[in-house]
Amino acid sequence: MRLAGKKIVLGLTGGVACYKIAELTRALGKAGAQVQVVMTQSATQFITPVTMQALSGNPVYTDQWDTRIHNNMPHIDLTRDADVIVIAPCSTNFISKLAHGTCDDLLSTMCVARPHHVPLLVAPAMNVEMWLNPATQRNVAQIKKDGIQILGPAAGEQACGEVGMGRMLEVDQLLAEIIASFQAKSLAGKEVLITAGPTFEPIDPVRGITNLSSGKMGYAIAQAAWEAGANVTLISGPTALDAPYGTHRISVQTAQQMHDAVMTYVKADITAQVTSTVKKPQDVFIAVAAVADWRVATASTQKIKKTSDSDTPQLEFVQNPDILASVAALPNAPYCVGFAAESEHLLHYGAAKRIKKNVPLLVGNIGHHTFGTDENELILFDANGHTALPRANKQTLAIQLIQEITQRLNKTQQ
Ligand code: C5P
Repeated sequence: MRLAGKKIVLGLTGGVACYKIAELTRALGKAGAQVQVVMTQSATQFITPVTMQALSGNPVYTDQWDTRIHNNMPHIDLTRDADVIVIAPCSTNFISKLAHGTCDDLLSTMCVARPHHVPLLVAPAMNVEMWLNPATQRNVAQIKKDGIQILGPAAGEQACGEVGMGRMLEVDQLLAEIIASFQAKSLAGKEVLITAGPTFEPIDPVRGITNLSSGKMGYAIAQAAWEAGANVTLISGPTALDAPYGTHRISVQTAQQMHDAVMTYVKADITAQVTSTVKKPQDVFIAVAAVADWRVATASTQKIKKTSDSDTPQLEFVQNPDILASVAALPNAPYCVGFAAESEHLLHYGAAKRIKKNVPLLVGNIGHHTFGTDENELILFDANGHTALPRANKQTLAIQLIQEITQRLNKTQQ
């Protein structure tokens, strides 16, 4: 219930993408929000107020002169207790109206009359040529300058059959953006690198060694860091999870591949060749992955066959590189956060591991109590001792952990 207690005024303007807003309204309600729908006349051509009333559970307003509002001022009254206004889909015409402060129907007048502390988010949805039109781009630049947040648009196939920029974001992406809009941007402009999930070390082409890590904790941390405004790179071992919206995921299999990917991102100027801009180094590295300590020295290129009833293959192991320790040892290392999944003596092992890995913050948990589950409890070890983040779902813990990391990062930069 990430939106519990929030009142969202949801404005619909004319566009085929209105059909997605039925789903968005349900998703917002499921996340705990109260939704007040306002529609332009054009929007009612694409989806009916009846549908939107049924899904939102509230009367829908389309007319400036609606007498259901006692003082006959819906453009004022509808937003006075709102936490956010979201315009989705937002048409080319409506962006133009926002840029010019036009008040010629209920929704546009309501946006101009909104209290200054109520954020306005708009999700453009239009044909690619309409999006690329210089007038639209001018208006988009203007409303950004005015503090209006633009969600998307995405590129892809469009209702008209053309392909390109202008598709409205999908419902789960809009939901992620709306939830993120309520989070403090404590990591704005920071680069955060995260490892997550298990690794898989091949024995032969069909077998390998892995562990029970699901990746849920690392993915939740990646999402929380993005919600806090960071640019997030997530280097992930094999998991069944979708990449959290807004993050850049790189999928790897083995510990060595994870090490190499991490080192590339920690050290190299990744975007330099593409954009000629100098990439900022990573500000924070959070090693959440359950990395295999050992790999088979020489994985067989063919499936190892059972030749008799009693034979067992003789596997020889070598140690994998310690990714966290390697990053922590770099000159100008980012702020490093390690994880320790122990099965016992967590307080003792956690404190010792922080020192051994030479990191300012180490997060301990009991591995077999957390792997694959949605809940966890964490112990934070730093130079001052340890503190606990009590049992909660991984999403809640991830948000708390990002706050703890931000506080410590800010202290190191003072
Ligand atoms: O030594 P141990 O595996 O318990 O350390 C756990 C921490 O070190 C985690 O943060 C894990 O992601 C990281 N680690 C690593 N590379 C390894 C082994 C562990 O980055 N090869």
